[in-house]
Amino acid sequence: MQRFSRRGRPARPAHSARPVHPAVDAAAPEVRAGAEAYGWAALAFYDISVTWLNNRYVWHCPASVINRQYDAHATVRHLEVGVGTGYHLARARWSGRAAITLADLNENTLRWTARRIRHHEVRTAVVNALEPFPDLPGAPFASAGVGYLLHCIPGRLDEKAAAVLGNVAAVLEPGGVVFGSTILAPGPETPPRARRMMRLLNRRGILHNTEDTAADLDRALGAVLAEHTLAQVGEVALFTGRTAAPEGR
Ligand SMILES: C[S@@+](CC[C@H](N)C(=O)[O-])C[C@H]1O[C@@H](n2cnc3c(N)ncnc32)[C@H](O)[C@@H]1O
Repeated sequence: MQRFSRRGRPARPAHSARPVHPAVDAAAPEVRAGAEAYGWAALAFYDISVTWLNNRYVWHCPASVINRQYDAHATVRHLEVGVGTGYHLARARWSGRAAITLADLNENTLRWTARRIRHHEVRTAVVNALEPFPDLPGAPFASAGVGYLLHCIPGRLDEKAAAVLGNVAAVLEPGGVVFGSTILAPGPETPPRARRMMRLLNRRGILHNTEDTAADLDRALGAVLAEHTLAQVGEVALFTGRTAAPEGR
């Protein structure tokens, strides 16, 4: 049974008594580190510090740009992988009450976001996005969001993106859409403030994107999806793609 604090937020779990989920246990320590950063305190400040301030003033890709991806592509049978605080899910313009499956390696983010979008039909699953997904409730999905997930995962971008997008594509219906965003490694035009922030967050194991290039992401999208688009706003790559349409369409 889910407990809630008096302010309506999910109550802090008693960590000492909590068993570790097998998907978390099986993940490599550096993969786990990319998800463990999102404790309750981090989640409480995430919307202000990352979604509003860093996106606008450090990465130069305001939250409204990412909101537009949701408005354009999210459907009422949606999978979200790497959910954070669920800011964009909460802001999206849905065509009706949606069935949304939340998948993440961190149970805090799942509880936080499930509570925030509870007016929809919400299911949750603890998954490592690098591993094939278990039977996800709600699959197959018509759309999937993977916003700001890839830069949290260690490894070369072409390999981690191919793994994550391959796992997502496997649970999409034919012609289903996947969309997302990821902060790229600094390029020649990256401002000093963004370089400094990237160095700091990579040192802390929160970001893993020092080698992440748009070319590698493009290659992974092309390898996994039937069609795709890729654009860059500030330091952020924004992508969409589709699985092959059903025969005869
Ligand atoms: C930066 S937050 C993204 C939040 C939200 N999607 C957004 O765009 O603001 C990254 C999320 O990915 C999750 N995550 C990190 N590594 C993961 C992995 N290997 N598998 C599944 N989720 C992971 C974290 O727990 C966190 O919820």
